[in-house]
Amino acid sequence: MHYPDEFIEEVRMRNDIVDVIGNSVHLQKKGSSYFGLCPFHNEKSPSFSVSRDKQMYYCFGCGAGGNVITFVMEYENFSFVEAVQYLAERAGMEIPKQEYSPEARRQADLKGTLLEIQKKAATYFYYQLKAGSGKAGYEYLKNRGLSDDTIRSFGLGFANPYPDDLYRYLKKEGYSDEILRESGLVKIEERGAYDKFWNRVMFPIMDINNRVIGFGGRVMGDGSPKYLNSPETKIFDKSRNMYGMNVARRSRKPYLLVCEGYMDVISMHQAGFTNAVASLGTAFTAQHGLLIKRYVHEVILTYDSDTAGVKAALRAIPMLKEAGLSVKVLNMQPYKDPDEFIKNLGAEAFQERIDQAVNGFMFEIRNLRQQFDLSDPEQKTEFFNQTAEKLLVFEDEMEQNNYIEAVSREYGINYDILRKKVGAMGNRAGLVRERAAVVKSGIQKRSEKEDANHQAQRLLLTWLCEEPAVYDKISSIIEPGDFTEELYRQVAEMLFAQLESGKRNPGEILNHFINDEEQYKEVAAIFNTKLKEGMTKEERNRAFRETVLRVKKNGLDYASRNVQDVAQLQAIISAQKTLKTLNISLD
Ligand code: UTP
Ligand code: MN
Repeated sequence: MHYPDEFIEEVRMRNDIVDVIGNSVHLQKKGSSYFGLCPFHNEKSPSFSVSRDKQMYYCFGCGAGGNVITFVMEYENFSFVEAVQYLAERAGMEIPKQEYSPEARRQADLKGTLLEIQKKAATYFYYQLKAGSGKAGYEYLKNRGLSDDTIRSFGLGFANPYPDDLYRYLKKEGYSDEILRESGLVKIEERGAYDKFWNRVMFPIMDINNRVIGFGGRVMGDGSPKYLNSPETKIFDKSRNMYGMNVARRSRKPYLLVCEGYMDVISMHQAGFTNAVASLGTAFTAQHGLLIKRYVHEVILTYDSDTAGVKAALRAIPMLKEAGLSVKVLNMQPYKDPDEFIKNLGAEAFQERIDQAVNGFMFEIRNLRQQFDLSDPEQKTEFFNQTAEKLLVFEDEMEQNNYIEAVSREYGINYDILRKKVGAMGNRAGLVRERAAVVKSGIQKRSEKEDANHQAQRLLLTWLCEEPAVYDKISSIIEPGDFTEELYRQVAEMLFAQLESGKRNPGEILNHFINDEEQYKEVAAIFNTKLKEGMTKEERNRAFRETVLRVKKNGLDYASRNVQDVAQLQAIISAQKTLKTLNISLD
């Protein structure tokens, strides 16, 4: 389904953001903005701001941000279309007829169509489960202790034991082979088209806005593979999504429970632990750590208690720490996983285990200890040496000391000796630590120059939004093409057009990024950054000049690398020459 842009913009204009958010968040006016407690993360003092002038919200704590439509999507767990409908009704507007023609579909963007296909497939699987043909699947889930409520709220379904019924259903709905192939639900080969999933219980995977982006399917019985997962597609990025996060991020608990699988998440939610999530048929990545960090500061690992689970936990701990999270590990013994544990001992016992979860570092040491026979002095020495080495990860002295204390208490090592050992190792390691710190982060860093260009482009956009009058000073110098970051260029094009006609409207610009959460958050951040205060007039002028020059220079460099003909090259060269003589000033 696709609404015309004008309609979406009208919906947005007719719903004042302060009124809409004010219904669910207690807002207080402070300066030109309103502030309240952020509904998207836990906090005690308000860092969630809403601006009537910009028609945007932004949380300085967790980075949640957007316009009135994204707020309703995130707060009410609505899809984009649902949010638009809700707001249209709220404003008493007539909703245009839904367009389902193949032509309208072609016009809708690819991502939107892919989302639509996943949603249709989820509905299809859900009805199969409820129909006679899905009896085996339904009974399987009931046998595993799931209630009808749970089945419904997770949208569980069943893929028939036929090779192509989903394919035929989706064809009838008007989708081309090409797009169906891209959806990952269908394999199209020379001999014909086949469903990827058949004879499996289906777990729809949702993004944080409750949109289905892929599936996991569990085989009936003992077939292999036990779980089959959707491949990555344009809308399904396994390292940027986690199963259950759409619910968990609203649980209002200060920590998340991270487990291995679909059934674990579901059992925990059913038992009341709605803050459980799992990575999606892949190992935990640094990206998952960053995703989690957006919502909480602490993780309790509830991986399987077998060797593979312990290994996975030991792998995940450093990545979680790297993301700035504190980590604990839950002891599942004598059961294999959360699903089994809860089935046997119940929710209360599970809560006790949560309360007793051990610190991630102590968990690592405990596992290290198992590799040594401490009755042998040589092995004991080696264990303490390796422990001392591990204690080097703490950069804060007080924190390190607390761990030295805890370790010496638990393993009966003399505190002073361990301390000295760590100190001596630290001096030696100090030389290489700096280098290691750069390597250890799995997240690629930009070069300094790239970073400076990136920041200058971002700052200029912020500046233009905060002080629209500045536009006159640069409109003859800078053009949107000078913004070499793709997202910034798109924003610049729209912002420049608005400023040209004297109607600055950040909330409208956001409409164009609504299908991509990462993008709309970034745009919201650009438009809600505060310019540095307390600068003298000269300092402001210098900062402005430097920013504009950097953006222009980088824009010209970029253009010169992509020239088409000699005339163009000459124009660039002459522009580069005049760069230094330009009069760029706020006055
Ligand atoms: P497990 O094998 O521990 O599954 O794999 P489970 O959740 O306990 O399964 P049940 O209870 O027997 O149904 C944990 C997770 O690893 C992924 C899945 O995400 C699964 O939930 N996995 C496992 C796969 O992707 N493929 C497989 O073949 C197996
Ligand atoms: Mn398991």
